[in-house]
Amino acid sequence: MLGSQLCLLVLLGAVVPTLQQRDQWSSLDHSNDYNYVRHDEEVQKTFCSWDCLKFTLQWPGAFCTYLNEKAKCVIQPEINTWTIHGLWPQKAYNCCGCWHLFPSDLEVLDEELSQEWPSFVKSKSYFQFWKMEWLKHGVCAACVEGLNSPIKYFSLCLKLRQQFNITRTLSEGNVVPSCDRPYKLAELEEVLTPLIGEHHEIQCIKDKQDRELWFQVKIPLSRNLTLGCPQPNPTAERGPPPAGHPCPSQTPIYLVPIDHENPRKPCG
Ligand SMILES: *[C@@H]1O[C@H](CO)[C@@H](O)[C@H](O)[C@H]1NC(C)=O
Ligand SMILES: *[C@@H]1O[C@H](CO)[C@@H](O)[C@H](O)[C@H]1NC(C)=O
Repeated sequence: MLGSQLCLLVLLGAVVPTLQQRDQWSSLDHSNDYNYVRHDEEVQKTFCSWDCLKFTLQWPGAFCTYLNEKAKCVIQPEINTWTIHGLWPQKAYNCCGCWHLFPSDLEVLDEELSQEWPSFVKSKSYFQFWKMEWLKHGVCAACVEGLNSPIKYFSLCLKLRQQFNITRTLSEGNVVPSCDRPYKLAELEEVLTPLIGEHHEIQCIKDKQDRELWFQVKIPLSRNLTLGCPQPNPTAERGPPPAGHPCPSQTPIYLVPIDHENPRKPCG
């Protein structure tokens, strides 16, 4: 008890002078404050200038094929449908490492997130996945009203997941997982476009047998969350080139079943 009080005092001792110094310093020289404000505005402008979001859903059946071979892939038994990969402001990444995320921040959403936003990488816990998405993309989204906290950001993603229930739309359009019945890109687009607009991206990955597996779909949203995007520009993304690619229009596309036992080889 005494030890922890001492420790607290030491910590306080370390913090208090810094605050005082800062106060004294800024009261002496207001021009520096002005510089800080201007700097903040510049940072805001860079980080907040995005005008397009991509809401990305992944298909567990093929996602393990997309993952690096070295990563052990696990799909928990209760995961049987499309799941969330992320909500990504375009051309804005890692805007600030300063907004730490703790499990308690997402406690009330934990159950729903575990169902709708699982990680398939065995070495990465669900929370680690959410935290990575928050730090990489969420903090950039957070300059918009309504997205400016973890709980708002993750709640919105869950809401979008309900709004864009592509599982239902696909099954209503008779697009069902199968190892034998491939689809044409045009068939998939015809079924999806009424729900997610024409500027969506359907992404594939090639398996070892050279089949095109559909593993991901990106839904473009404006800043105000209306469907579509002022400047659809799918090629201008930064970061390492993704292993996936747009599903080809002339090749059969497979929506493979989810195989919990053998997630990397759903069709043998
Ligand atoms: C999608 O629709 C199906 C069938 O109507 C329903 O069972 C499921 O709960 C819905 N999923 C979400 C995330 O709303
Ligand atoms: C949302 O934003 C888009 C693009 O900026 C604009 O065209 C549209 O009118 C806006 N919709 C609403 C409801 O504000």
